[in-house]
Amino acid sequence: MHILAISGSLRAASSNTALLRAAAVLAPVGVVISLSTSLAELPYFQPGNYDEPGAPAVAAFREQVRRADAVLFCTPEYVFSMPGVLKNALEWLVPSGELYHKPVAVWSASPSTTGADQAHAGLTAMLRVMEAAVNEGAALQVGQVSGKVNAQGEITDKELAESLRTAVAALAQAGNTTNSAYQATQGIQT
Ligand SMILES: Cc1cc2nc3c(=O)[nH]c(=O)nc-3n(C[C@H](O)[C@H](O)[C@H](O)COP(=O)(O)O)c2cc1C
Repeated sequence: MHILAISGSLRAASSNTALLRAAAVLAPVGVVISLSTSLAELPYFQPGNYDEPGAPAVAAFREQVRRADAVLFCTPEYVFSMPGVLKNALEWLVPSGELYHKPVAVWSASPSTTGADQAHAGLTAMLRVMEAAVNEGAALQVGQVSGKVNAQGEITDKELAESLRTAVAALAQAGNTTNSAYQATQGIQT
């Protein structure tokens, strides 16, 4: 079971990326979580423009998403929205459809008490339009994140660590169910 983790923050000291790294450590046996390549490598989305210099980065990103059993997003909020770099990345997946029926979970984190709720709602809505299988049971909004992650990117809040663990397990379960259903349609026995 492989979960691709995509952070909406480009900051080296990002709390959102720290949550995804912590999730990789807390994941149950048999669940591997890896971070996607930086979204900053992707060119700006233009419909139909697949011959531009950034095309290899787009192809590599699409392949990472295609190969994942499930995708875990964690996003900050800028001016009440998800960061443009994350929306841009998702726009590249619209025509190629890698997220179609893919189990996904939306996490968001912010130093404010809101837990980046507007970005969370916007990202969830976009993923629904793309017909990803949004897993509500694996969703998380983390408010006041600055007091819950230390300078080394470690989770210092026990309740948060437990929430991450539960959410990852829910997403992994969704990924396993989807895999089993797919294998049944293909006549594959495990
Ligand atoms: C230009 C700008 C706009 C922001 N707007 C919001 C916002 O609307 N809501 C919010 O909760 N935080 C907002 N923030 C704070 C971000 O949530 C904060 O920078 C956060 O740490 C970014 O996540 P990261 O640690 O993963 O990089 C804003 C920050 C900046 C620089």
